[in-house]
Amino acid sequence: MLNGKKVLIGITGGIAAYKICELIRMYKRQNAIVQVVCTPNALNFVTKLTLQNLSQNNVATDEFEIPDFKPEHIAYANDYDIFIIAPASANTISKLAAGICDNLLTSIACAFQKPIIIAPAMNTGMYENKIIQKNLKILKDIGYQILEPEDGFLACGTNGKGRLCDLNKIFDKTIEILNRDNFSNKHFQKKIVVTAGGTIEDIDPVRYISNYSSGKMGLAIADEAFKLGLEPVLITTKYIQRPYKVKEVKSALEMKSAVEQEFQKADYVVMAAAVADYRVKNKSEQKIKKSADDILMLELVKNPDILKALCSDKKHQIIVGFCAESENLENNALEKLKQKGCDFLIANDISRKDIGFNSDYNEVTVFDKFGNSTKLDRTGKNEIAKKILDIILK
Ligand code: CTP
Repeated sequence: MLNGKKVLIGITGGIAAYKICELIRMYKRQNAIVQVVCTPNALNFVTKLTLQNLSQNNVATDEFEIPDFKPEHIAYANDYDIFIIAPASANTISKLAAGICDNLLTSIACAFQKPIIIAPAMNTGMYENKIIQKNLKILKDIGYQILEPEDGFLACGTNGKGRLCDLNKIFDKTIEILNRDNFSNKHFQKKIVVTAGGTIEDIDPVRYISNYSSGKMGLAIADEAFKLGLEPVLITTKYIQRPYKVKEVKSALEMKSAVEQEFQKADYVVMAAAVADYRVKNKSEQKIKKSADDILMLELVKNPDILKALCSDKKHQIIVGFCAESENLENNALEKLKQKGCDFLIANDISRKDIGFNSDYNEVTVFDKFGNSTKLDRTGKNEIAKKILDIILK
């Protein structure tokens, strides 16, 4: 979700500087272009060589180095999409609040007109100092995103507030800001509930019935919806951290109650999950032991059809189902669309090994309730997700 985005990371002089090495890797894994800028004191805590290797870029420290016709601080301020200052020391926070530009980092921040995230980290006494709190409020009031430090064991040997916040928080906030700058977007804040993954139906405490669904298609739909400015709620059996709401569920019954909780306020519901049609009638509380018999009988009962129930309860919502078919794709899909009563049904052929379950690719046909169909040729699941959203958001 950061492909090609330009992320400027400012490191100040604090022990939490070493944690930023991992943050750089998190951005690089997402294909972001990362430029690190350090205050002179930051380099007492982490080496330039480490930062250069991880960011695959030079590390900027010198305000008076002029790489092209522009002064360096102006070049960075113009070129980068977001500026993350982490760890932000009490000293740098106070300079920023006062508009002081006495090194490259503070000069860039002063000239930077795009979003700035500040993640303070320092000793509890320094953090609670009224001047520092006042300066943080000044920065917050002018639009800086402040990610508060956390409580915990500090490098100075004490316990208290001052630890750099979890790196995932910085990372998620970056994604959220960079994907949501188009606030005029007409889809902004429309809620979309997406289910993903195969449900897990317990047999006993160690065994279960499930299916091969990877959850990738549902995840791609939620990710692409998020990029479009919608507010996704992903209900999944394959938990993954995301900058939007993700609820982890296991069984079909759990998925049903999670979807129902979100349904009233939803504008769109996409049931991409492979919900088990049956569950074990009497789940054993204890591990089932091998017996002398060659056959073990499991009695199964039908799970509720979540999609069908939603469709009969539907008010303003647009409801989308998926159907996985191994034969007679079109006939089965049209029959299912009618029987479930949804607005769209997306059909894919699970007999093909190069698409669908567990693959990163898919090829689907989107059927609507008016009898129209659109074939989406084989491509990556994110591309398919964009095209599906294109159709259903219309
Ligand atoms: N679905 C559901 N609840 C179920 C079973 C399926 O909500 N208990 C949803 C799936 O999430 C999917 C759609 O119904 O969006 C179609 O799923 P599919 O398994 O293809 O259809 P079934 O109704 O289960 O029919 P069959 O397995 O007999 O083909």
